[in-house]
Amino acid sequence: MENQYHIKEFNSIVKNRRSVYPKQFVKDKTIPDEMIYEILENANRAPTHKLTQPWRFTVFAGKGRELLADLQTDIYTKYAHENFNEKKLKNLREYPLLSSHVIVVGMKRSVTTAIPEIEEIIATACAIENLFLSLTAYGLAGYLSTGGITYMQEAKSHFDLGPEDKLIGTFYMGYPEDLSNPLTKRTTIYEKVKWIN
Ligand SMILES: Cc1cc2nc3c(=O)[nH]c(=O)nc-3n(C[C@H](O)[C@H](O)[C@H](O)COP(=O)(O)O)c2cc1C
Repeated sequence: MENQYHIKEFNSIVKNRRSVYPKQFVKDKTIPDEMIYEILENANRAPTHKLTQPWRFTVFAGKGRELLADLQTDIYTKYAHENFNEKKLKNLREYPLLSSHVIVVGMKRSVTTAIPEIEEIIATACAIENLFLSLTAYGLAGYLSTGGITYMQEAKSHFDLGPEDKLIGTFYMGYPEDLSNPLTKRTTIYEKVKWIN
């Protein structure tokens, strides 16, 4: 029976997935919101133990990006303390507006199941990879940032997350300007696999 999926195409999407940073996005080129929704639908198909579906997405588009720039610079200035870094602050201000859309990813803990936290983080990470691969398939690009406010407890409530939940990261996305620089390298899979026959 012929395989119903396009394996070559899929492999090429996976192998060409790459992090592209806001300074490499085409300026002022906006991704249609419907496309973002299609990508989020793919994220929503991630595997999830007991179907807890812990991933949460706060999407910042249009003027919402300015709100995010204000919000994350305020939070960072207030709570970075000894880690405060002017360059990081500048990026937190500039990156949202260099992007078409920004998605802050959260993990919402299940209250009805006794699922270990790590499983909910894994499920959310799977959703992020679905999102990342979908971006690549659509000819879009982006990167996941865990800098800035990600690990600041005080930031959570701004994204509808409670004390038991986690901020996982901020995904900046746009149209890639230039993908001519090489992909990052990986060491061979053979040194990461133990195969027992
Ligand atoms: C959990 C996670 C957190 C990351 N956080 C950051 C970050 O804060 N800043 C950054 O520049 N890149 C970040 N990255 C992107 C990695 O640096 C990037 O994936 C790596 O360099 C490999 O490049 P590639 O994604 O193009 O294959 C993060 C990636 C992951 C998976």
